[in-house]
Amino acid sequence: MEDIPEVIPYARHSLHDDDMRAVMEVLREDSASQRLTQGFRTSRLEVLIREYTTAEHAVACSSGTAGLHASLFALGVSTNDIVITSGISFCSTANVVRHCGGVPLFADIDEDALGLCPRSVREALEWAKENGKRVKAVIVVSMGGVAHASAELRDLCKAYGCRIVEDAAHTLGGRYADGRAVGCGEYADITVFSLHAIKPITSGEGGVATTNDEELARRMRLFCNHGIERDVRRFKDDVALSAREMAAQKMTYGYQHYQMQVLGLNYRMSELHAALGCSQMRRIDSKRDRRKELAERYDRLLDDILIDDVNPLSSIIKPLQRNYRERSAHHLYVTTIDWHRLAINRKRFMQTLANTGKDGYGICTQVHYIPIYEHPYYREAAKFTERALFEAVKLPRSAEYAKRALSLPLFTDMPLSAVERVVDALKELVDNCLKRDFKL
Ligand SMILES: Cc1ncc(COP(=O)(O)O)c(C=O)c1O
Repeated sequence: MEDIPEVIPYARHSLHDDDMRAVMEVLREDSASQRLTQGFRTSRLEVLIREYTTAEHAVACSSGTAGLHASLFALGVSTNDIVITSGISFCSTANVVRHCGGVPLFADIDEDALGLCPRSVREALEWAKENGKRVKAVIVVSMGGVAHASAELRDLCKAYGCRIVEDAAHTLGGRYADGRAVGCGEYADITVFSLHAIKPITSGEGGVATTNDEELARRMRLFCNHGIERDVRRFKDDVALSAREMAAQKMTYGYQHYQMQVLGLNYRMSELHAALGCSQMRRIDSKRDRRKELAERYDRLLDDILIDDVNPLSSIIKPLQRNYRERSAHHLYVTTIDWHRLAINRKRFMQTLANTGKDGYGICTQVHYIPIYEHPYYREAAKFTERALFEAVKLPRSAEYAKRALSLPLFTDMPLSAVERVVDALKELVDNCLKRDFKL
């Protein structure tokens, strides 16, 4: 019998003894070469991700957000550049644009896959062209574990002279439509993974960016390390020491000269985080396969349980992204619910599910996402952009999805019996709503 926790979280990290040993090994290492940061484990993690994705370069950093910020820096996004992206994402996707001085222009999603709709991206690109605005990049968000970078978006961006970054925070372990690994470099200039605690694998906090462009990789490394260049061949000549002087200095003082060449940040990954990331990489496929099994169990139960004589529960709680189960990284189990039909609002529904008292179920759910442009900072967009930019592209599908969205619990160590408990609770709650046993 599997143990079902009293409260089922919507997501949770998965740690094994191996992971803990790997981190302890860094701390226990008793040698002069012991390093807590910038050591061989960070390099090893980069090699593992490179091999897994087949990309030519991988740059580890302190978070997915840092990776996104570094990618926009590497692509040269700066003041007033427009970056097209999806509002159905975590706010950091757009925040990094602002940190570069750029302006996000939101395009619409497609309603089942939840990725950027190429037609809407074209509309945004056309609008920018007609209004004399410079679009530097498009950030494609691979929502919920389903890869959305594609040949169509790549070719569209190429035609308009802008670059593609793929926010694959959810999607390490996923595949593109052609079966290649997400992050392989075929459909995006740079792909960024998050290794945050609840992501497909974790390093606690962390991120990795992959690319097939050596110069982009170099610029990302530079940015993530304060803008510091240590390669003497790249020194700006007026202040550079000769290679011979450098070597002499290093031998005499054990000190290596460096130059700060651009305004960077400390976005480095520590060895403790890298050790955990390396250890977790061993289970990347088995973790994903387990989440796929859980997602398919949800699909089946929602289809099999009827709310009346003919209609399945899935006609009310509609699972999205079902056509992508074979290639998704299964980070989220996203559904949409027609709250009007149930005559209950989402907050009340979520609260009732989460309550642990006698009327509750102890089941946590989440909304992915409140659209980025709905957050107060972006609502007050006039602060940093013309209103027209925010109203340039209509976002009906993003708006409709955001009203209805609800993600059900999904995490690697979730027992299959917990999926049953969630679906039973949903069925009971839906029955009560349909019988109008709830007062709003
Ligand atoms: C879609 C998306 N983009 C970016 C990020 C940022 O990643 P991190 O938390 O590693 O900075 C997240 C993390 O939650 C995310 O979900």
